[in-house]
Amino acid sequence: MEKELRLDKLLSDSGLWSRKEAKQLLKQGRVQVDGTVERAPERKVHPETVQVTVDGQPVGWSEFHYIMMNKPAGVLTATEDRRQKTVLDLLPPEYGKLFPVGRLDKDTEGLLLLTDDGALAHRLLSPRYHVDKVYLAEIDGETDEADAEAFEAGMTLEDGTRCLPAGLKSLGRGRCLVTLREGKFHQVKRMLAQRGKPVLHLKRLSMGEVRLDKALKPGEFRPLTALELQNLKK
Ligand code: URA
Repeated sequence: MEKELRLDKLLSDSGLWSRKEAKQLLKQGRVQVDGTVERAPERKVHPETVQVTVDGQPVGWSEFHYIMMNKPAGVLTATEDRRQKTVLDLLPPEYGKLFPVGRLDKDTEGLLLLTDDGALAHRLLSPRYHVDKVYLAEIDGETDEADAEAFEAGMTLEDGTRCLPAGLKSLGRGRCLVTLREGKFHQVKRMLAQRGKPVLHLKRLSMGEVRLDKALKPGEFRPLTALELQNLKK
């Protein structure tokens, strides 16, 4: 059976509250375990066999954490760096050891998932599972039919790197949407540069069914909802 967890840890694992806030909720008598008010943060429970509620609302528990971040420009997608700020520096310590699912360049913004679920991360990144990643690119120029056809055919980059077929949709002068199923180094920038339309700014909008929450400002994050998680795992 799943090992026992302290109640304050179980609450903060949901990603909705910090450990400190969880202790407060308990103190305020807002937490019930199987219908009985419980105030002791150190009380241990089996997360999979008890029903824990806060203000009467069930609290889901998962062994893993899943965070959506609106990555800001200027921050590295890495778990640690001696000199530069990383995306993990933006998360509070109660999330524990998460890692980013794939990489965005330092100057790229937008949707970044962070998790400690290695199996899911692997599936999301493997081209075999066909998880589309959609990017909004601001470019110098305007993409045309010939560019879209080149993307669709699967481009070979100047250094010989072969790319899988990709989607390209013009949004008029200076903007386009790129859909990739893989994540090679600087891929969007290199593909567009090769077509003579260099990228000026890049933002990831979605991964599979999960879209960047418009309410998140650069640098902000939130746990994935149960529905988003379910869609990702499909
Ligand atoms: N393609 C790029 O060129 N950069 C990113 O950050 C992501 C995809």
